[in-house]
Amino acid sequence: MACTLQQAAPPLNPAVLALDWLLGSWESDEPGEGSFPTIPPFRYSETLHFTHVGQPVINFMFNASHVESKKPMHRECGFIRLQPGTNRVAFIIAQNSGLVEIEEGELTGQQLSLKTHALARTSFAKEPHVQQISREFRLRGDGKLEQTVSMATSDQPLMQHLHITYRRS
Ligand code: HEM
Repeated sequence: MACTLQQAAPPLNPAVLALDWLLGSWESDEPGEGSFPTIPPFRYSETLHFTHVGQPVINFMFNASHVESKKPMHRECGFIRLQPGTNRVAFIIAQNSGLVEIEEGELTGQQLSLKTHALARTSFAKEPHVQQISREFRLRGDGKLEQTVSMATSDQPLMQHLHITYRRS
């Protein structure tokens, strides 16, 4: 008889039921597009994982990589919380660049609109410094997930940095 230590997945906590459409793994279906006035345009691949352990919180991990070489690039991980009884949502995020952030916003159906509520960086972070981030996740009618990220830095106003779509993997 097979012996396994794996435990049955706990049921999703009702407090985060409204976010169940995010759960699982996603992979960019075509290269994401990166831009900003101060850098050359670039393309990237990305995988997203949204999981839970039965707590009233969703765990996430985003791993971006180079389209051709597959070399790891930007990485983020954190937690998503919903304010009970409301559509207020918070993303609590750590980025490999040394930035930590809380983004807050609203859940409307299968769309999340977020912007920076609090932000901190390492004392030795290189410039330009990020001042503000706004981002949207949207589950489209064709089953694809779309993410758009804009940022303002110490020398540029709020402008799009990333746009990417994912399919379930
Ligand atoms: C550049 C922030 C996500 C790839 C930058 C810069 C900042 C930044 C501040 C420097 C801009 C300048 O020099 O004026 C962020 C933030 C992100 C994010 C806050 C998430 C919210 C990503 C992702 C990728 C990426 C997912 C995918 C690979 C790049 C590249 C550059 C860049 C290739 C140009 C080269 C470099 O400066 O490293 N980003 N980024 N970024 N970002 Fe992002």
